[in-house]
Amino acid sequence: MKRVIGNWKMNPQSEEEALRLARAVDKKDAIICPPFVYLSALSKEVKNATLGAQDVYNEKEGAFTGEVSVDELKDLGVRYVIVGHSERRALGEDDALVASKLRTVLDAGLEPILCVGESAEKRDSGTHQEFVKQQVEAALFQIENKRAILIAYEPIWAIGTNQPANPKDVGEMAQMIKAIRGSDTVLYGGSTNKENIGSFLEMPEIGGVLVGGSSLDSKEFNEMITIASNY
Ligand code: PGA
Repeated sequence: MKRVIGNWKMNPQSEEEALRLARAVDKKDAIICPPFVYLSALSKEVKNATLGAQDVYNEKEGAFTGEVSVDELKDLGVRYVIVGHSERRALGEDDALVASKLRTVLDAGLEPILCVGESAEKRDSGTHQEFVKQQVEAALFQIENKRAILIAYEPIWAIGTNQPANPKDVGEMAQMIKAIRGSDTVLYGGSTNKENIGSFLEMPEIGGVLVGGSSLDSKEFNEMITIASNY
């Protein structure tokens, strides 16, 4: 089955609501990435979905106020970690930090979901393929671990805008990303919903979707997982 991964971002605003949302996911194959603060409660209560985190720190432990370590996540039963989401890069994460986080996640035996994607300016100037290739190579630079990873292609202009990318374009980008190491699975993210998910999943190069807004609507999210189970 192709993957469907929900990224809740900074939502919802209470643990009660987070539990309600997670319990409503009735599919075993779902992966949800709630805010850090809810992971503990969800790991005890939620049996159906697999847990992911939205970020992690690159250092293993120590004096890093406000940060969260891979071992802390593992202790809660977290399996996946989003690394280098464009919303974190916009807050100042550069390629070197993303690469370091990726290495830390791999070394810990967790599954990284590396996010890459160009801005509208890069797309308009026609340099998007080159830019994304560099982002992937910068993240994988010096990674000796050959384990296949998930790489989410998320063009910034498609995130939360209701303007998803063209599936054919995404297929081409996915092919390019896959060719870098030959083993990684490429996901698409950006304004996916139950209406358009099929158009991405039917592309052989696309291994799944990373879902933001639509993952906060449990009925819609469940329907997306049902659709994905046909691929
Ligand atoms: P979106 O977000 O589905 O709301 O566009 C996707 C993401 O940022 O991962």
